[in-house]
Amino acid sequence: MQDYSPYLKFAISLAETAGVIIETGWYGTFQTFEKGSGGDLVTEIDIAAEKAIFDRVRSTYPDHGTYGEESGGGSPLKEGFVWVVDPVDGTTNFSHRFPFVAVSIGLLYNGVPVVGVVYNPILKEIFTAIKGGGTLFQGKQVHVSTIQHLPRSLLATGFAYDRRETNDNNYREFCHMTQVSQGVRRAGSAALDLAGVAVGRFDGYWERGLKPWDIAAGILLVEEAGGKITSYEGGPLVLESGRILASNGLIHDQMIKELKL
Ligand code: IPD
Ligand code: CA
Ligand code: CA
Repeated sequence: MQDYSPYLKFAISLAETAGVIIETGWYGTFQTFEKGSGGDLVTEIDIAAEKAIFDRVRSTYPDHGTYGEESGGGSPLKEGFVWVVDPVDGTTNFSHRFPFVAVSIGLLYNGVPVVGVVYNPILKEIFTAIKGGGTLFQGKQVHVSTIQHLPRSLLATGFAYDRRETNDNNYREFCHMTQVSQGVRRAGSAALDLAGVAVGRFDGYWERGLKPWDIAAGILLVEEAGGKITSYEGGPLVLESGRILASNGLIHDQMIKELKL
């Protein structure tokens, strides 16, 4: 098997580069713009952080692809190495200075995540994973939770920017899962929600309307921490489908069943 550890080291240094930019904005000032009418925000920090990351990727690995939110996508995801980046996951939080924000950096090889880094530079929390090498939080190996029953679980979810334009907006699922669990949190960063499942803060997470840059890193964090990632129906995850179900594995089937109701 290929040794991906040099790429993990590089991904951590990319996250630190973005982290400095995010902190500069957080403790200073920045301009915020609306991308469309649905409340999708972008700040000058998102744009600067993505540029800094991809400039370094292109100069260090010129044959690797890039795929990022502020670039509106990029290279085909299933061809060789592709760096999939959300420079600020939780931009609404960032613009209100709610400290649940992260840079998410995933490296795919032929469409399969092999390295993942999610870094919250405000709370100074870093989650990293390498395929076959487990998941680390603050440098220490972590595992998903051992909660076995949905009624004893704490879950996470989110709502996409098209929520006002579609009935498939996750409101029904949110209400139902709130009834059948100990609670559902909507903290505003898919990457950190997945990291939360990996470290056992959450027992499960589901969401629709996501993009590959929201989850490319987080899915590896969950898998390498012993958790499970599938479609809502329990089949293999399709990165571009926008729908994801993540859990500690133990409550996975219960979540599949309840999401159907
Ligand atoms: C958003 C966050 C949020 C999720 C949205 C995403 P952004 O990303 O991950 O938790 O509910 O669907 O679009 O816009 O802050 O990068
Ligand atoms: Ca995002
Ligand atoms: Ca973003």
